[in-house]
Amino acid sequence: MTTSRTTGPAGTAVAARATELTKVYGQGETRVVALDQVSVDFRAAEFTAIMGPSGSGKSTLMHCVAGLDDFTSGSVRIGETELGALKEKQITRLRRDKVGFVFQAFNLLPTLTARENITLPMDIAGRKPDQQWVENVIDMLGLADRLGHRPRQLSGGQQQRVAVARALASRPEIVFADEPTGNLDSHAGAEVLGFLQNSVRTFHQTVVMVTHDPVAAAYADRVVFLADGRIVDDLYEPTANAVLDRVRTLSGGLGTAQDNTPGAGGFGAAQHDAPGAGGRHAAPRDTV
Ligand SMILES: Nc1ncnc2c1ncn2[C@@H]1O[C@H](COP(=O)(O)OP(=O)(O)OP(=O)(O)O)[C@@H](O)[C@H]1O
Ligand SMILES: [Mg+2]
Repeated sequence: MTTSRTTGPAGTAVAARATELTKVYGQGETRVVALDQVSVDFRAAEFTAIMGPSGSGKSTLMHCVAGLDDFTSGSVRIGETELGALKEKQITRLRRDKVGFVFQAFNLLPTLTARENITLPMDIAGRKPDQQWVENVIDMLGLADRLGHRPRQLSGGQQQRVAVARALASRPEIVFADEPTGNLDSHAGAEVLGFLQNSVRTFHQTVVMVTHDPVAAAYADRVVFLADGRIVDDLYEPTANAVLDRVRTLSGGLGTAQDNTPGAGGFGAAQHDAPGAGGRHAAPRDTV
């Protein structure tokens, strides 16, 4: 392991932490260890990218740390609160108060308009949106002229931006985003990434984002690399080239390289759930 720095800035608060987190799906022949004793801190006001080959456990890690999915062993903390100590209802409340999530498969509600989808988590929580902030988010994501549209009337990229807006609208303490730019062209993708980065730099938002794109990862302050359910590397102040180098090294070392994807090796060859297809992670718990 070629960790460049094992600890972040001294004294930085931890927004979420996994300790020896293990998640096993199925039993017998279908048993899959999706997470194998993963320990990681996501520090407050830091932008972390998670990279790794398809099936390496990225979505599972985010779902478990966000309180969306249960886990087999280990512990998870959001802020000062241990999830293991909470009942289901309390986890739901904690998640609604503190967590924003952009799902790999969007999970927009088809019968609601874009605006209704964006404010839904706050409506459910009975919380009044900070109107100025919500308008800010909508403008930055270029959604102002699509607010009355329903998801099926929006392009894949627009749906993805609505999902990003929904996660950010309540200004949660931590935002998890699973491939938030996976369906955007490079211009729209750069805007979303710039917005996420700005929300960290300017508003001290904490963001954890899965991506397979080294350029997207370079917007983050740190990149955590997963392979086979384990953290295999951790890179601070990433540049796209440095990320690419790590990806190549890790892919080579792990024997997962598929050199058909320029630069991205085995990491870039992920097959992702189709938008709206529900995927494996469609709502393990409620999705907003
Ligand atoms: N509900 C489930 N039941 C059984 N196995 C599952 C389930 N969800 C995920 N897995 C398995 O757990 C492992 C990790 O899956 P996960 O979705 O976290 O991968 P990922 O890194 O997000 O991949 P991708 O880049 O393709 O989205 C995979 O081997 C997957 O097949
Ligand atoms: Mg995934």
